[in-house]
Amino acid sequence: MSNASSTQSFRQHLLSVLTQSSHLSAPFITTFLLIHLSAPVVANVGGSSLSSQVMLLGREYYQTNIGEPYLVLGPLAVHALSGIARRALITYAKVNSLPAPGQTERNTSKPFTIFQRIYRALPSTTLSLTAYTALLILPIHFSLHRVLPMTPNPPVLSLGPSELDYSFVQYGIQRWPVRTWAMYAVLVGAAITHAIEGTRVLIGRPETATVTTKPSSSPVNPARTSRNRRRLLAAVLTLPVLSGLYVLYREPSHLFADFGQRLEGIYKLSWIYSTQ
Ligand code: HEM
Ligand code: HEM
Repeated sequence: MSNASSTQSFRQHLLSVLTQSSHLSAPFITTFLLIHLSAPVVANVGGSSLSSQVMLLGREYYQTNIGEPYLVLGPLAVHALSGIARRALITYAKVNSLPAPGQTERNTSKPFTIFQRIYRALPSTTLSLTAYTALLILPIHFSLHRVLPMTPNPPVLSLGPSELDYSFVQYGIQRWPVRTWAMYAVLVGAAITHAIEGTRVLIGRPETATVTTKPSSSPVNPARTSRNRRRLLAAVLTLPVLSGLYVLYREPSHLFADFGQRLEGIYKLSWIYSTQ
């Protein structure tokens, strides 16, 4: 086998391994999301107290010594890293396949600069765009809700899981409504839309490019109809989470002053909330 074809087959093999690990880890994240997001959803009927109880129940699944690394953080890391690595391989191959300035042997008249080649090779599907949007916000969300509450220094003084309930979420959304709403809405919207698009890939339907698909001249465009249905489904699933947050936002909060200071201290440790 020539060098070029063995590199090619190694690349194909690697792509298939990365695709499989990304697909196998996805159902774990879906399960986590169903449990995790049921807490804000139940605020619609029972306010912050029911949300806190549901979150405590959910933690039995995802915040135990085994659950957290093997059912949540591990699958999330495997999924995102294999997705990114797969995308890097595909993007690199696409960039190389586009004609660069000075490449006269290629059968095309117009060469592209390196920036144009990278731009053309970047993904434009809803699946990819929502994945990277969620990925940008997830580290902020994780550090705010999971890492910073453990800070031992005053005023936080290591808030344990039993003390950290939905009054923390409520405090953030009432104290800094704009940034907190924006963060939850974008994270939830992106995660749910991505999961719906991802499920389509998992059941064997092809991805469709959002930006590059040309409009069909036929009055009934099946691809567009299916895309609109998926958007509607994403909106229908996102709405109860956001309306639950709205209930928390409107609900009067009764916190002891010193506990409020500890919650304030956690938020202030995050760069998103470090300014007034
Ligand atoms: C909210 C947490 C999630 C994050 C941060 C995330 C992240 C990613 C990333 C970075 C990619 C690569 C995208 C690309 O370059 O095109 C990806 C792909 C994918 N994700 Fe997710 N994902 C999440 C949740 C989910 C869920 C819940 C599902 C369940 C269906 C899922 C299914 C998929 C699928 C099927 C792919 C495409 C894999 C492929 O064939 O290449 N993801 N995800
Ligand atoms: C309105 C929407 C959301 C709210 C109110 C919310 C709230 C919370 C809260 C209160 C925690 C603290 C830990 C706990 O649950 O015990 C947490 C942790 C976490 N959240 Fe969210 N979350 C939301 C959406 C999301 C989404 C869409 C994701 C996407 C994957 C996500 C991923 C995580 C992760 C990975 C943790 C750490 C879990 C652990 O390791 O125990 N959250 N979130």
